[in-house]
Amino acid sequence: MRKAFKLLIGFSVLASLVGCGEKHFLEDKVFAGGVYAPKAALNKGKSIYTEYCMACHGVNGDGHGVAAKGLQVPPRDFTKGVFKFGQVPTGELPHDGDFYKILKEGLHGTAMLPWDLTHDQMFAVVQYIKTFAPAVWEGKDKKLGTAIVVTKDPYGPAHESSAIQRGKEVYHAVANCQSCHRAYVGHKEFSDINLKVNGEKVTDFDPDMYKIKMQETEWGFKSMPPEFTWDFVRSATTVQDLYIRLNAGVGGTAMPSWKDTISDEDVWAVAHYVKYLMDLKNTPARKALMDSISK
Ligand code: HEC
Ligand code: HEC
Repeated sequence: MRKAFKLLIGFSVLASLVGCGEKHFLEDKVFAGGVYAPKAALNKGKSIYTEYCMACHGVNGDGHGVAAKGLQVPPRDFTKGVFKFGQVPTGELPHDGDFYKILKEGLHGTAMLPWDLTHDQMFAVVQYIKTFAPAVWEGKDKKLGTAIVVTKDPYGPAHESSAIQRGKEVYHAVANCQSCHRAYVGHKEFSDINLKVNGEKVTDFDPDMYKIKMQETEWGFKSMPPEFTWDFVRSATTVQDLYIRLNAGVGGTAMPSWKDTISDEDVWAVAHYVKYLMDLKNTPARKALMDSISK
C-alpha cells in the first residue's frame, strides 16, 4: 500500500516536472492588424497544436518536431514570423484567412496536409502559432500585409491560347523566369521570342537555361524552384491561385513578388502559361514538348 502511494507521489512529481514547461495563457492578446485573441482561444489553440501540429512544427514552434527529421521540405519555423504562402507581398504578414486556406487545402507535395478543423479551431491554432514570434505579431501597432486584390482576368477561358502565347513570352523574355526555374522553349523559339519582345536575337545561350537553379532561403536551407510540368506547385491549383502567388511571391525565398514589376495583364498571362505547363504533367504532350526542346 505504502509502496503504491510512494509510486503515485513519484508519478505526480514527474508529471509536474514534465508539465513545468507548459504555460497557460492567463491574459488575452492583441496581434497585428488588431486581431483580438482571448486567453481561452490561445489555450484551446495550444491544445490543438500539441495534438496535431507539434510532431512536425516542434514544442517551441521552431520546426524541429520529432517527425520533422528527414522531411525533404522542412516544417515551417514559426519563431521567425516569416511565411511563404501568404496572399500578401513577400516580407509582409499574412492575414488569418491566408492561414485558413493553407490549413484547409494543405501544401501540395509536402508533409503539410489538409486539416479538417472547424473555423473556431482554425482561429485558435492560428492565434497560438503567432505566440512563437511575439516580436513580430504582438501589439496593436503591428501591421498586416496588403492583401493581393484579384483583378478581372483580361483573357478568361475564351482567350486561353493568346494568354498562353503571351505568358510564354513574358516568362522567357520579359520576366526571365528561367533564370531560376528553367526554359520551356527550344533555342530557336527562345531567340524568336526575344527578337519579338526585346528586338534582340539571342545567339549566346545560357548553358544552364534548362536546369533548375537551387536558391537560398531565410531559414538557412536551400529551396528548389519547381519544374512546373513535373513537381508540385504547393499553393496553387487554378489560374487565379497562380495570379495571387505571382503577385505575392514566396516569402523567405528567392521567388519575388511580380506585382508592379510586370504589368497586371502580363501577370495574368504568365499565370495562364504556368497552369498550361502544370497541366502537361503525366501527359504524352509533356514528352513531346521535352523532345522538341532537346532537338
Ligand atoms: C507531418 C508534418 C506536419 C504537420 C503534422 C503539420 N505541418 Fe504545417 N507544415 C509542414 C511542412 C513540411 C511545412 C512547409 C511547407 C513548405 O515550406 O512548402 C508546413 C508549413 C506550415 C505553415 C506555413 C505556411 C506558410 O505560408 O509559410 C503553417 C502556417 C502550418 N504549417 C501550420 C500547421 C498547423 C496549424 C498544423 C496543425 C494543425 C500543422 N501545420 C501540422 C508539416 C506539417
Ligand atoms: C530569383 C529566382 C526566381 C525567379 C526569377 C522566379 N522564381 Fe519562381 N520560385 C523560385 C523559388 C526558389 C521557388 C520555390 C519557393 C519554395 O521554396 O517554395 C519558386 C516557386 C515558384 C512557384 C510555385 C509556388 C508554389 O505555390 O509552390 C511558381 C508558380 C513560380 N515560382 C513561378 C514563377 C514565374 C512565373 C516566374 C517569372 C515570372 C518566376 N517564378 C521567377 C525562384 C524564382
